[in-house]
Amino acid sequence: MTQTQNRPSIKTYGHLIGGEETVPQDAPTFQSRSSGNLSDVLAAFPEADRDTVRRACEVARAAFPRWKATPAPVRGEIIGNIGRAIAREKETLSRLLSREMGKTLKEARGDVQEAVDTCAFFQSEGRRLYGQTVPSEMPNKELKTYRRPLGVVGMVTAGNFPVAVPSWKIIPALLTGNTVVWKPSEDAPLTSYAFAKLLEEAGVPDGVLNVVFGGGKDAAGQFLVEMLDEKLVQKIAFTGSTEVGRWIGEVAGRNLTHPTLELGGKNPLVVMRDADLDNAVQGALWAAYGTGGQRCTSAGNIIVDAPVYGEFRDKLLAAMQNIRIGNPVEHEGVLYGPFINERFFRSWEAHYARGEEDGATLLYGRGRITPENKPEGFQGDPEAAFYGWPTLWEGVQPGMKLFQNEVFGPTVNLVKVDGFDEAIAAANAVDYGLSSAIYTNDRTWANRFQEEIEAGMTSINNSTTGAEAHMPFGGTKGSGNGTRESGMWVLDSYTYWHGVNDDVSGKLQLAQMDTEYAQPREAFSVGGLTPGAQEVEGV
Ligand code: UN1
Repeated sequence: MTQTQNRPSIKTYGHLIGGEETVPQDAPTFQSRSSGNLSDVLAAFPEADRDTVRRACEVARAAFPRWKATPAPVRGEIIGNIGRAIAREKETLSRLLSREMGKTLKEARGDVQEAVDTCAFFQSEGRRLYGQTVPSEMPNKELKTYRRPLGVVGMVTAGNFPVAVPSWKIIPALLTGNTVVWKPSEDAPLTSYAFAKLLEEAGVPDGVLNVVFGGGKDAAGQFLVEMLDEKLVQKIAFTGSTEVGRWIGEVAGRNLTHPTLELGGKNPLVVMRDADLDNAVQGALWAAYGTGGQRCTSAGNIIVDAPVYGEFRDKLLAAMQNIRIGNPVEHEGVLYGPFINERFFRSWEAHYARGEEDGATLLYGRGRITPENKPEGFQGDPEAAFYGWPTLWEGVQPGMKLFQNEVFGPTVNLVKVDGFDEAIAAANAVDYGLSSAIYTNDRTWANRFQEEIEAGMTSINNSTTGAEAHMPFGGTKGSGNGTRESGMWVLDSYTYWHGVNDDVSGKLQLAQMDTEYAQPREAFSVGGLTPGAQEVEGV
């Protein structure tokens, strides 16, 4: 993101508030650039100030009663329309996404498809959204439960999954009758804008989804969270860093609200001595370097059982020689593309110094890819963007910073252990608990791993990445506060339970006091069946 004087040829898009697109006069703007070619400016966007964010919240609040009163099956139909609109535009939206934030086209299609799948799931939820009928302890009294929407939900999302992750939040929040103010990532604003326009096309009424653009800290994202204090939003849903998540948790806590927090990860991938090593190498390669390591589910530590350590390391190193890297817009078939932008690159670059301080051994990788310093598999112009070498460390131990800290980017650590007990101890020795994986064919180890690992998600003989759109997504420990996205589990994040009792008896019946509890009869002694038998001691 760069502050600029706009060139006239660059179109400035506006905030989407109450069905209108607005660019406040004199608002500072920022540009969206292609991650793979930084001289390719896609568009400019205004930076929302506090008043703009407040206005968006007020508009969302005004739209809430009507949207809440819209029958859930009708809201579900609109969700279905959204899914069909995104499916129709899948190819163009994927290409835009790939150009804007730099993931490969194959992955961009997956990102977009995840939103289509989410719509498919929630369209029909509009015809369920089940509550319960519950028997009363009184005659002529009906008990029932309803899911109720929370009100206005403020959403702040990251740039690495600019369509899938917002859809996990926006789609169920709308389906359950909430209205939304969304502050998309400043790293992928044009993709976010396109996504929001498809929702508008699908029939989401004005004011039900509002979009404000801008940065996070001391900017639109922070202002939106602070609207909790003004009671203008009833909930915040956030995907991003653990540090920011903690702060949101504090603001939400003092307002007695429960935020959705999807935070960082340092995901372990365990390779046991009996694993299919070729499969494990493919899984590790993808978990570590797919999406350039810029997934919150990317592998951080590869924990390898001693008897296969050497063989696994050699096979992984050999596979790494073949990694193809480049601008995915120009080069099909690359494993990964550029960093989303310079900010991501700088924070990844800093991990080399940490590795040295830790005394870890750098097996492969030499920082930024430049014309003089590039791996064989690099294609194109390395100076057009920020590209990083696939990086591999060994000799990494749980006490080290390299082991503990999340690093967004193409790097992973090899951690040698001896046996399952050491492997699970190492896997649990991080402050995060998002995703996890084990490669083994031993049923006992696989079962112990899924029971003992401290994580929200676990793969057995599969990469740490790649959660499906209808499974619960989220983590434990530093990776979140226990909320879940996706599938039926997310419904609890955007609704509260309302218990209703309907007394049709025509008189005042007091629960617990007027209830006709049954009294037990005289005690029956089993011992009395065999008089004279020796008493069993202790009974
Ligand atoms: C993220 O990195 O924030 O499970 C989301 C996965 C993807 C989503 C990742 N379906 O890797």
